[in-house]
Amino acid sequence: MLKNYWYAACTSEMLAAQPLGRIICNEPVVIFRQQDGTASILRNVCPHRQAPLSMGSVHGGVLRCAYHGMEFDAGGHCVHIPSQDVIPPKAHIKSYPTCERYGFVWIWPGDPELALDAEPPAMPWREDKGWNTEIIQYFHVKGSHLLMNDNLLDLSHVAFLHANSIGFDSKRLDNDPLEVTVQDNYVSTRRVFKNTIQAPAHKAWRELAEPIDRTQLAEWHPPCTINILARNENAHDQVDLRADHLITPETGTTHHYYVAMSRNFRIDDAELTSKLDADARRVHNEDLEIAEAQQNMKQWTNGAPDMALKADKAVNASHRILERLEKAEAQRTA
Ligand code: FES
Ligand SMILES: [Fe+2]
Repeated sequence: MLKNYWYAACTSEMLAAQPLGRIICNEPVVIFRQQDGTASILRNVCPHRQAPLSMGSVHGGVLRCAYHGMEFDAGGHCVHIPSQDVIPPKAHIKSYPTCERYGFVWIWPGDPELALDAEPPAMPWREDKGWNTEIIQYFHVKGSHLLMNDNLLDLSHVAFLHANSIGFDSKRLDNDPLEVTVQDNYVSTRRVFKNTIQAPAHKAWRELAEPIDRTQLAEWHPPCTINILARNENAHDQVDLRADHLITPETGTTHHYYVAMSRNFRIDDAELTSKLDADARRVHNEDLEIAEAQQNMKQWTNGAPDMALKADKAVNASHRILERLEKAEAQRTA
């Protein structure tokens, strides 16, 4: 599990007055806001009796343990212990590099020094006024983060798993125009279906005169970010829907899954926002369901390897990159 990366810890909206507890990359963390609104993340374990600090409360940007009232500032320094004046050095708890951007609070679980030169994955459309960026969905998935990674790097599943929503005619896969690009730490898959019809869901969001060209571009960056562009276009119109999939490992067999959606059409249409949110949630629940079922099946298969198919080119490329990066990270910390 790679640690020297920015991972989505929660959405900005999730973080209100109450501290929020999460397990991220096998580490229990608590996320809370300082007085000026800045988000901070600490290890979620009180040094006194190991109570989760996320059960506590925030007072003027200081996090107070719910059990016996020890208090910690944003840097994890203990600033108050009830009924004693001396604060032992052991009372300090680990803090994590934290930043907030694109509607997310981000955590850097690895070496803090390396966070200084790194940025969260770029999603400039989420800061562009020409796009509606209101929808962010969160799912807790009882399956390895790699199962969701692999799902998104093989979008041939859209024809089957999502046949009734955003699917397309699976016969088209016989002459699949899939282009896979692998460059350093980047993998993309791109399909352009020329002279086709709109998917039922796309038609409901914004109908175009048919035939249209339909592009599906998925861009992968380590550790587990996949930016997907779905474009429908004819000679007069171009309609883009982006879904940024941010996958944060919780443990080796569970993960936090965020999907941030942006669109450049009907951007002030609140009714469409609710419909799109509901439609997309249905689709993502289908992905969640299959990932959890795969994870569950692993208990019966004794670590048997997957069977490789031609469609797995991008998945395999991402695995090779992850293996290389994990080796490099392990060597750094050895
Ligand atoms: S467990 Fe936190 S103060 Fe006692
Ligand atoms: Fe899917």
